[in-house]
Amino acid sequence: MSAGGDAEGRDEAEAHADANTRQLARQRCGRRDDTPDILVPRLPTYTSLMTSLTAARVQMELSLGFHMLFASVGMALPVMLLMVERRWMRTGDRDALALAKTWSKATAVLFAIGAVSGTALSFELGLLWPRFMEVAGPLIGPAFALEGYAFFVEAIFLGLYLYGWDRLSPRAHWWCGVAVAVSGVASGVLVLSANAWMQDPVGYQPATGGAPAIVDPAAALFNPAWPLMALHSTLSTYQAVGFAAAGIYAWAILRRRHAHRDHYHRLGLTTAMALGVTSAILQPLSGDLLAKRAHHRQPAKLAAMEGHFKTERCAPLRIGGLPDPGAQVTRYALELPCGLSFLATSDPQAEVLGLDRFPRDQWPNVVVTHLAFQVMVGGGVVMLAVAAWYLFERWRRRRIADAPLSRALLIAMVGCAPLGFIALEAGWVVTEAGRQPWVIYGILRTADAVTPVADVTGSLIVFTLLYAALLIIVVMFLRRLAVKGAEYPA
Ligand code: HEM
Repeated sequence: MSAGGDAEGRDEAEAHADANTRQLARQRCGRRDDTPDILVPRLPTYTSLMTSLTAARVQMELSLGFHMLFASVGMALPVMLLMVERRWMRTGDRDALALAKTWSKATAVLFAIGAVSGTALSFELGLLWPRFMEVAGPLIGPAFALEGYAFFVEAIFLGLYLYGWDRLSPRAHWWCGVAVAVSGVASGVLVLSANAWMQDPVGYQPATGGAPAIVDPAAALFNPAWPLMALHSTLSTYQAVGFAAAGIYAWAILRRRHAHRDHYHRLGLTTAMALGVTSAILQPLSGDLLAKRAHHRQPAKLAAMEGHFKTERCAPLRIGGLPDPGAQVTRYALELPCGLSFLATSDPQAEVLGLDRFPRDQWPNVVVTHLAFQVMVGGGVVMLAVAAWYLFERWRRRRIADAPLSRALLIAMVGCAPLGFIALEAGWVVTEAGRQPWVIYGILRTADAVTPVADVTGSLIVFTLLYAALLIIVVMFLRRLAVKGAEYPA
């Protein structure tokens, strides 16, 4: 075939791929085939706003990255709190009560920091992404409003919990803790509905030919991406906090400076591992369902996660490796034949779309998305192995009361302490970077949603300083709490 023929073939393939992407966007929006392809018109000044775009994206990444750390602890710590308080109610174990009191203080501070960082985030949405808010506001508004109610419930019951130790009956006090744990998760899950809608924007049909946009807030709130994302991200907070706390208590046991408090540390470790182990087992299962969802609804994201450039049947699963978008290959990866086809569809011979089916300007950043995916899954696999090791040791020594864990396992737990948070942050990078170049998948590009203000570097600096200050306060407080040690009732 001639060079001209090649070019024509390529043009045809690209047009076909472009049509595929638009078709997906239409299906997501519930649009008929004859609706025009103009999604949301681009701002004419797009190229001149690149600096703003970069600064706005950095600011948003930084803010979300910080907020997720605080919010995760606020969601997961109350669950551990309830477990030890319940133990104290049942057995009168003073170490359990001491742990509950220490953790309740940490919960209070992290709740406050989470509230400040979350409020800052909602301002940033309007300030940095006005076009996004214009399109998405009516659709994600209900999720934010409900999240607000859940937040208020959490604040009220946290107040009752903190000041109710000596004023409420143990049973009433514990139920206040249940309300804190449930409303904490509810507020996280509700706000996640907005993010899930950005991945799978059902219930929205852009304005066409003078007719207004059609919006269906109920469809947006209950979008199909929401349940799985809510499950996976809630588990990620439990896993991150469980493994982090277990690592801290494992470290204390290893140092043995507080031998008289061994039961206290062991109880802290066991409680944290109960949460960490359960989540570590469930997480790969929920992750697998998410990957299957991406195969159907965001195939370019799945292709970027897997460093999968060429559409093929019996597509391999790549472990590790470094994508080279120029050459359209992923180098140095361990390839498991037909693994990706099988995981995405349960059929080893199924075709999996590669990035070659999408116009180049609709590719996510393949290197970032693939590496973040490897970090998340790698972290999950290591934590799963440590969870299995822990269960095995507990089972082997089940007949010995208070049997100590092996030193090697304690060291492994210390090593895993930051892993859950690293995996959690990496997971968010996968989800957000993999959605690019869209802020609302298939509907509005990130570049078209950014503020027209020429320079947002000032705001980036202010918010960076705010988050740095919050981080310093948290670290100082947690350090003080650890140095002061357990508080035993008189
Ligand atoms: C071990 C196997 C795992 C698999 C197969 C897996 C799979 C996935 C997939 C496919 C996504 C992208 C979803 C999307 O945007 O469409 C994702 C996102 C995410 N992952 Fe994982 N994951 C695993 C482990 C973990 C672990 C261990 C954590 C943290 C402790 C974690 C935290 C997250 C978070 C926070 C997100 C973004 C929020 C969400 O989409 O739910 N993942 N994961």
